[in-house]
Amino acid sequence: MSDEMTHTAVYPGSFDPVTRGHEDIVHRALRFCDRVVVGVAQRSTHAKQGLFSIEDRVAMIREVFRDEPRIEATAFDGLLVEFARRQDARLIVRGLRAVSDFEYEFQMALMNRQLWPELETLFLAPDPRYSYLSSSLIREIASLGGGVAEFVSAPVLARLEARFGGATE
Ligand code: PNS
Repeated sequence: MSDEMTHTAVYPGSFDPVTRGHEDIVHRALRFCDRVVVGVAQRSTHAKQGLFSIEDRVAMIREVFRDEPRIEATAFDGLLVEFARRQDARLIVRGLRAVSDFEYEFQMALMNRQLWPELETLFLAPDPRYSYLSSSLIREIASLGGGVAEFVSAPVLARLEARFGGATE
């Protein structure tokens, strides 16, 4: 294995918006990688109604990890395997919250490996505190005036408040 194979991981997703669950996965990945590139996909396999623009999602991730030089965030279009190649990463990291995530994740991992056999996908279990968290629930709760302060970091909360008013604390 060359250095680049072991040291950079790509953590791809929609991140609309990034949650404390995502943050937990990034920090876990840093235990065995030198560099984690959070890749915000322009196109998700799951068609979803987006809340934030791709630029806003990237900006929020950069703000959240402002003090962490080993964590980068960038948008990508096209195939994840090509993005990983451009980042010199042969490792994809994904969080696995529950068995219900497994089928979708396993299918993507095997397809990505088919597209680029050198690429490995590593699944990380989140802290149980975040195992029920999802960006879609955050969007829904915030849009209905519920509090999400414990689920997202300050830069994300500020953006949600700007979007939905100040009732998200
Ligand atoms: O957070 P999500 O929406 O579950 O993340 C899914 C994502 C973005 C990782 C997946 O849809 C993806 O990799 N999209 C990029 C396009 C691509 O490579 N599609 C083929 C996947 S096998």
